[in-house]
Amino acid sequence: MKRILVTGGAGFIGSNFIHYVLNNCEDVELLVNLDLLTYAGNLENLLSVQDDKRYVFVHGDIRDSKLVNEIFDKYKFDTVVHFAAESHVDRSIVEPEIFLTTNIVGSQTLLDAAKRHWNVDPDNKYSREYLPGVKYLQVSTDEVYGALGKTGMFTESTPISPNSPYSASKASADLVVRAYYQTYGMPVNITRCSNNYGPYQFPEKLIPLMLNNAQHNKPLPIYGDGMQIRDWLHVSDHCSAILTVLKKGRNGEVYNIGGNNERANIEIVRLILNELGKDESLISYVKDRPGHDRRYAIDNAKITTELGWSPAYTFQRGMHETLEWYLNNPGWVERVVSGDYLDYYSKMYSKA
Ligand code: NAD
Ligand code: DAU
Repeated sequence: MKRILVTGGAGFIGSNFIHYVLNNCEDVELLVNLDLLTYAGNLENLLSVQDDKRYVFVHGDIRDSKLVNEIFDKYKFDTVVHFAAESHVDRSIVEPEIFLTTNIVGSQTLLDAAKRHWNVDPDNKYSREYLPGVKYLQVSTDEVYGALGKTGMFTESTPISPNSPYSASKASADLVVRAYYQTYGMPVNITRCSNNYGPYQFPEKLIPLMLNNAQHNKPLPIYGDGMQIRDWLHVSDHCSAILTVLKKGRNGEVYNIGGNNERANIEIVRLILNELGKDESLISYVKDRPGHDRRYAIDNAKITTELGWSPAYTFQRGMHETLEWYLNNPGWVERVVSGDYLDYYSKMYSKA
């Protein structure tokens, strides 16, 4: 793992992953971040690495096959970590099309370029031989498994049963990745992670949204009864799990990643109010999300026993650090909420 293509590196998890890799992986010579800078991409997340000689930013679309092939030619990647996606369930409910093109066609475009550059005989459809050490990792989600009732957990063999346009698009992409392994023998892995939290998360997602509203004494909109359950994982534990899979994952395998940390939404919201010393009267129960999955819970036995990974953060420490980060970085949140962060790219790069 010397020359990495990270897609979607200006988003929440991608930017945390770039920091994590550049701080922890001495073997990495080059890390290229391909990002379209949609509303969710924010180069401010990467200010502290922009002068790192190993880091290159490419502004572009994963669906642009010409561009993707050009950067494979130019940078000779041995590893792809594919984060870029439309990631917000609520947006997928009102605007599904872009979820299908970005999340499915985008993944297939990357897979095709990787196959063309990594297969030793790419014009031979029977060739299953690849350059040594190459790997394509698809960052997927527990939402592909659908919803759980009060008991049970998602294992890697739980049937795919997505319920939102977002999760359907992620599940479809997973199946395309699987097909590239089965048909062409591509060295791939799929990771399916539970809900992440931590710095640089776009304030449309539960934790930063509730935190920002509470700070400004605005109502905290809880969907339905607030008893839906998510399995929360600190983003840096997600990053360490991805690195573990890149190093030790068996080709063609799926690995679930979760924190053994189930919480009801209302519990999270109360914790935020409590930490901020705000009154529970700010809680506002609103109409439920259509098709809202009731409960997610990851069984992470495969990655812990086979690959030796386990989460380092307790929820208490992770939430404490996360809330502190947002409170200490009010400018970051303000620029995102006001839309000013969108000017950052043009200001930084207009003279380039
Ligand atoms: P995000 O929305 O914060 O970031 C997505 C990034 O992708 C942005 O920088 C955006 O500009 C970029 N992007 C979007 N379309 C693009 C395109 N066509 N070409 C190039 N770049 C494009 O997302 P996130 O929360 O960081 O999630 C990253 C990945 O992890 C996604 O694939 C998501 O499905 C998966 N995931 C997220 C979570 C979570 O809790 N956030 C959990 C499990 C899996
Ligand atoms: O499980 C992994 C998934 O987690 C990722 O694949 C997605 O990319 C990521 O967005 C996240 O999806 P969720 O839908 O679980 O996250 P979100 O933060 O949107 O919502 C978390 C829970 O909080 C969910 O049950 C809906 C609820 N919610 C959310 C918002 C934004 C509310 O009650 N009110 C809100 O305003």
